[in-house]
Amino acid sequence: MAKRWNNTLTWKDVTPEAAYMNRRQLMTGAAGLAAMSIAGPALAQSNGELEPNTWEEITTYNNFYEFGTGKDDPARNAGQLTTDPWSIKIDGLVDRPGDYSFAQIMEGLDVEERIYRFRCVEAWSMVIPWNGVELQDILDKAGVQSSAKYVAFETLVRPSEMPGVARNVLDWPYREGLRLDEAMHPLTIMATGIYGRDIPNQNGAPIRLVVPWKYGFKSIKSIVRITLTEDEPPTSWNMANAREYGFYSNVNPNVNHPRWSQATERKIGGGLFAKRQDTLMFNGYETEVASLYDGMDLTKFY
Ligand code: MTE
Repeated sequence: MAKRWNNTLTWKDVTPEAAYMNRRQLMTGAAGLAAMSIAGPALAQSNGELEPNTWEEITTYNNFYEFGTGKDDPARNAGQLTTDPWSIKIDGLVDRPGDYSFAQIMEGLDVEERIYRFRCVEAWSMVIPWNGVELQDILDKAGVQSSAKYVAFETLVRPSEMPGVARNVLDWPYREGLRLDEAMHPLTIMATGIYGRDIPNQNGAPIRLVVPWKYGFKSIKSIVRITLTEDEPPTSWNMANAREYGFYSNVNPNVNHPRWSQATERKIGGGLFAKRQDTLMFNGYETEVASLYDGMDLTKFY
């Protein structure tokens, strides 16, 4: 399947360091011209901003409350999760509802690399090289009906393998939702890998959502159900605290969380004294997604 999305990454961003160095060396040599014609436009856009976090950072500092509320709990406790066999129930307003095995979900789809900024509502951020497929390609398999307006997602609940669900910190299953146009946007992916390896359990194996212009909690992990609905679906963090967490949760430096500012963020891995960086509108994806919210008051629909 052809790529529908061309993002503005540089070769350095999408290429392992060794290959990048080879390419640069190539460009100074006889093959330079040939390499230049491929890498030229991409290199011209290089601003050095999207430096991916390390595997270690991405997989050891995160939130997955089904395995505990500490940042290192997911890495410690998620190893026991059985992710094969896995299936996703797709139901609601679709032509072909049913239980789709992981293989059926992925059949015929190209797994692409997408290097995305990831911005948690807690004001830390990372840059993550995901491998995944566009959500719209999965939804197309089920055949979305014209009356559908929203997509609801649910995470697995398996107490025997998820020590965190014994506590009522959230109303399980973890639930998230998108408006249909957000779900169909080519930036919205279902990730199955990181750095070309299978996605580790603590990051949402075997398949999780990634919506890069929204706060990280929208990117629901280890999904077992996708439901197409006419009405806006309930979402876990909104159910837990509607004043602090809205349905949209678009990254927005101008709308603060009631208890802290969202104007800046700390990129994980920069060290304790690293300079905070400005939060970007829609997490830097404004050109691509701002039109989805034309005419909406984003202070009201936060
Ligand atoms: N999905 C489930 N099922 N449970 C969770 O606790 N945490 C969310 C989101 N998805 C969470 C979840 C939050 S708050 C964040 S910041 C991201 O996952 C973390 O994703 P990462 O591990 O890839 O950094």
